[in-house]
Amino acid sequence: MTSHTLNELIAEGVRGRYILVRSDLNVPLDGSTVTDDGRIKASLPVLSKLTDAGARVLVTAHLGRPKGAPEEKYSLRPAADRLAELADFKVTLAADTVGSSAREAAASLQDGEVLVLENVRFDPRETSKDDTERGAFADELVSLTGDNGAYVDDAFGAVHRRHASVYDVATRLPSYLGDLVHTEVEVLRKLTADTQRPYVVVLGGSKVSDKLAVIDNLLGKADTILVGGGMLFTFLAAAGHKVASSLLEEDQIPVVQDYLKRAADAGTEFVIPTDVVVAEKFAADAAHETVAADAIESSSFGGGGIGLDIGPASAAAFAERIKGAKTVFWNGPMGVFEFEAFSAGTRAIAQALTKTGAFTVVGGGDSAAAVRTLGFADDQFGHISTGGGASLEYLEGKELPGLSVLDR
Ligand code: 3PG
Repeated sequence: MTSHTLNELIAEGVRGRYILVRSDLNVPLDGSTVTDDGRIKASLPVLSKLTDAGARVLVTAHLGRPKGAPEEKYSLRPAADRLAELADFKVTLAADTVGSSAREAAASLQDGEVLVLENVRFDPRETSKDDTERGAFADELVSLTGDNGAYVDDAFGAVHRRHASVYDVATRLPSYLGDLVHTEVEVLRKLTADTQRPYVVVLGGSKVSDKLAVIDNLLGKADTILVGGGMLFTFLAAAGHKVASSLLEEDQIPVVQDYLKRAADAGTEFVIPTDVVVAEKFAADAAHETVAADAIESSSFGGGGIGLDIGPASAAAFAERIKGAKTVFWNGPMGVFEFEAFSAGTRAIAQALTKTGAFTVVGGGDSAAAVRTLGFADDQFGHISTGGGASLEYLEGKELPGLSVLDR
């Protein structure tokens, strides 16, 4: 990568300059409480480096997927408050993104202070497909930086989005790669080139359709793909089993069948669970039992049963594969880990990752939140990526607009 780095920007001098930083503050909330502050903590080092050097930092970020208009539940207020608690510099939040509040607060910002602009997605132009609309929004963001501004992209989780605050601002200001993005890319590169083998990939999460492109790209590269989460039921159906009322993407069955066939030729082995935990309904306190994966309909709940986790035999088999690996990438929980009764599969995988001698990468907002919710510490893993969709798209080999725009 030939992008300019944050260190180069610091060396040029930032005291008194307005530096626009795209951070990823898209954290999970329970009301107004941040339930996993991993992304906020990961955003701190770059902000500290800039404020220590005397910059006036304007942070752009999104939270959730508002529909292009302000909505209280998508306010960055909880994230900005948590940032302020963790930071040793002053943090304020503007009431809007490029309106009078942002302009006034930016004008009175002092050296070494941070102003977080309200959710960039409150403006429909941020995500517009129309270059001119996005450009107009980018111009307004850039105008907050005066005549000697610069841009730093530190939002790895958003580099796959061709959005105004990620892409278009970088075409208008001298632009630099943030340290977080730099580290993420270095780590993910180890999963795509000169990967230490055996390379085991654990895929979970609800939808197989979200993972198709990455599976496609992993055939022949990964030695083993362990399949869990809601998507496992489409694999079971593809293998000819009935899955009762479990999550099923019927239209993906032929695609999965094709993958299973191609995997054998490519030398990649798919490991599909042999047992699953089936529940009477989707609820934390639902009655449940473990059954063989090819006998889901014969559980006590018959055709109404819903698979909500991988079973213990599958978890043990997965752990064994992880133990023998040299590289492991994990994306997506194995079950509904938010419900204690259905968290054992996800916990077992996390545990196995902490015990293996392999280089381990946990990718994806959900998986990162899962390991922290289950009580694991970040340093028990080789790397916890802040990017969900971004890390998958990187592994898919796609061009990421937020990276390529810096690489010019
Ligand atoms: C994420 O949560 O993966 C990033 O913050 C990107 O969010 P998005 O999928 O809504 O663009």
